[in-house]
Amino acid sequence: MPSSAPVLRPKQPKEIPISYDINIPYVDVDKKSKISTKYPQYLPSWDPVWFDPLTPFTYNDPALRVRNKSKPNLLAGAKVTDIQPSIGSVIENVQLSNLSETAKDELALLISERKVVAFPDQDLIDAGPDAQESFMRHFGKPNYQPVSGSMTDHPAFHIIHRDGNRDEIQRFLSQRTTTTLWHQDVSYEIQPPGYVMLGLLQGPEVGGDTVFAATDMAYKRLSPAVTSFLDGLKVTHSSRKMIDHARLTGGLIRKDPVDTVHPLIRVHPVTGEKCMFLNGEFITKIDGLKDSETKWVLDFLMNHLVTGHDFQARVRWQPRTIVLFDNRSTIHSAIVDYLDDDYGAKARHIFRLIALGEKPIPVYDDEEDEENVEFE
Ligand code: SIN
Repeated sequence: MPSSAPVLRPKQPKEIPISYDINIPYVDVDKKSKISTKYPQYLPSWDPVWFDPLTPFTYNDPALRVRNKSKPNLLAGAKVTDIQPSIGSVIENVQLSNLSETAKDELALLISERKVVAFPDQDLIDAGPDAQESFMRHFGKPNYQPVSGSMTDHPAFHIIHRDGNRDEIQRFLSQRTTTTLWHQDVSYEIQPPGYVMLGLLQGPEVGGDTVFAATDMAYKRLSPAVTSFLDGLKVTHSSRKMIDHARLTGGLIRKDPVDTVHPLIRVHPVTGEKCMFLNGEFITKIDGLKDSETKWVLDFLMNHLVTGHDFQARVRWQPRTIVLFDNRSTIHSAIVDYLDDDYGAKARHIFRLIALGEKPIPVYDDEEDEENVEFE
């Protein structure tokens, strides 16, 4: 054969669509895991309900009602163990189901301050969906997820569930290098979540931790030259890609895509800190920047957030743990490391309930600026 003859490459197999997030199911769970689950009532359901777009509402953060910052109603008798000096605490000897309204306000303040708070061995885990929803309503309006499994008659529940799924996981890892997916929950919504609850129903003995990074501490590490550039930027967050993915993999869609422009840096209503409002998944554009510039800014900021272990905390799930976190001052990822080659994932079953919060507060108030211009 002459040396100039073209060499035929072997044909690459066509890529089969993979889950958007291997941590959650987009289609029904298999029969085997339906039989072995500890909490069948919380298995994801796929009821064809439809949700209209969220309309703007007034949000009053319960943390702003707290008078006594030492939080006596919540913490009298509690054992508090910090996970890291500035982020994350584990609270023992408190049952969330027993908290008074004042204690819940104090809890909102504690979450705002510590960003992630874990309460092991909670009887609220076994109190049923009504009690769990009613608890979270204290902190804000519920959210209805556009895709992924929910609970029949309780559509505010977002169900995180893995058990087995060996082939799906192998396919996912044949196309991705990691299962890690850093994000802020539902950031595309016009009033994204403030406080978020995760409740562990069933989990592996080891693994399946959730890692959080503090977006206000990460902001503070940047130089004034960089923060003055970031402070005024506006960013489009979109649920479109996630919805398209669900459609491609045969999942159910319950809501039209939402595209919202938010400030890149938002001011926390309770702490007053500036927080990066960033997402590895939902951002499509930074206003005024070219595509390559958007990518450059996002790559830099995401890399800063996910490599800054000095402003991160990893929550280890103990049985019946409820984690409450502040979605405004953290970004997080589940860690899907509870796999084995023969079976796939060990069982991990968590419910998520969201309390929608304020419209993100920008560093510069455009409307105020416009009013000022009129009076100049
Ligand atoms: C999430 O990614 O929103 C849930 C986190 C987890 O499953 O640990």
